[in-house]
Amino acid sequence: MRLPVRITGVGGYLPPRTLTNEELAKQVDTSDEWIFSRTGIRERHIAGPDETSSTMGIEAARVALASAEVDPADVDVIIVGTSTPDGMFPASATRIQHGIGATNAGAFDVNAACAGFLHALSAGAQYVASGSAQRVLVIGSETMSRILDWTDRGTCVLFGDGAGAVLLEYAGPDELGGIDSLLLRSDGSQASSLYADGPCTPALAGARAEAHIVMDGQAVFRSAVTGLANAAADAIAEAGLSVDDIALCIPHQANVRIIQAVAKSLSLPMDRVFVNLDRTGNTSSASIPLALAEACATGRLQPGDRILFAAFGGGLSWGAAVMQWSGVRAAHASGVPVARVTGAPTTA
Ligand code: ACO
Repeated sequence: MRLPVRITGVGGYLPPRTLTNEELAKQVDTSDEWIFSRTGIRERHIAGPDETSSTMGIEAARVALASAEVDPADVDVIIVGTSTPDGMFPASATRIQHGIGATNAGAFDVNAACAGFLHALSAGAQYVASGSAQRVLVIGSETMSRILDWTDRGTCVLFGDGAGAVLLEYAGPDELGGIDSLLLRSDGSQASSLYADGPCTPALAGARAEAHIVMDGQAVFRSAVTGLANAAADAIAEAGLSVDDIALCIPHQANVRIIQAVAKSLSLPMDRVFVNLDRTGNTSSASIPLALAEACATGRLQPGDRILFAAFGGGLSWGAAVMQWSGVRAAHASGVPVARVTGAPTTA
């Protein structure tokens, strides 16, 4: 069933500091050749000492609101997908609410690891579709660098920091936009293949132990390819569309080999798949809205285009959505894309 919801604003933020594969190779036993050939990643952005998921989320949200030409006081709900919040509580969403001056908004976080943005989008879309909210900010923001074991070459080379945001508003029957399908899946029996313990984990209680990502890379790789391919195919079918109708697939940016395998399974040519992980690494919940911001800023999307989102992460949690791109107001008004990814990388 089509949800009458459209994206009217989009923004992204990447911290200025980049960390290249060559720099990483000076810290752990790895190489640019190994990382790039296994993952497609060349570099990632790392949050500065004072940056957090909420400060980066604030930057992305401001750009999204500017591109929608919406005042922060007119936002009704803020939902933040993050597995790296500033603290256990309050929610990073409330810090962002204060930071952008969204004085009339409710705010809460959603944790579905790398699938966090899709889950937050799902929740936000229900508010708008039901009419209980007019404008919902959906943000993915992650400070993955703070939960990495920087001595574990199997994980520390994969992730980066950043934030992306979209504004959701009602799509009238005669307006472009609309979510054609959105499905979420989970399998908690595979929780041990990808996790990060925290201060409430019994084994860590009372200790000031650090929470680190622990991952069975090959198991996650296999599950990701199968889960993403099946969810994407189901989302396209549920939308009553075919792969030929998809103008651009914006998948979670974890590993280009996963993305290529999913595209092959769908018979979707790679020139209709957006990839920016070479410059961002895996930014978890931030990856899809960041990629969307870059796709919008670089003219990869035209009003009316059908977009396929597909996300996969710890949980295991995954899902896919098909929606119609309606464009952003300020880009139409000025003729130039205003959705921007700040802190542009210095190397390709
Ligand atoms: N540099 C050099 N060698 C390495 C590195 C590294 N950074 N990491 C591992 N190796 C070595 C291993 O020790 C192993 O050596 P050995 O054969 O002597 O034992 C060898 O490389 C092969 O290791 P594999 O784990 O088999 O390598 P693989 O080809 O599976 O690639 C990778 C590993 C890139 C992690 C891959 O499995 C993957 O991408 N999996 C999915 C991970 C993912 O997407 N996670 C995020 C999910 S989203 C979320 O919710 C957080």
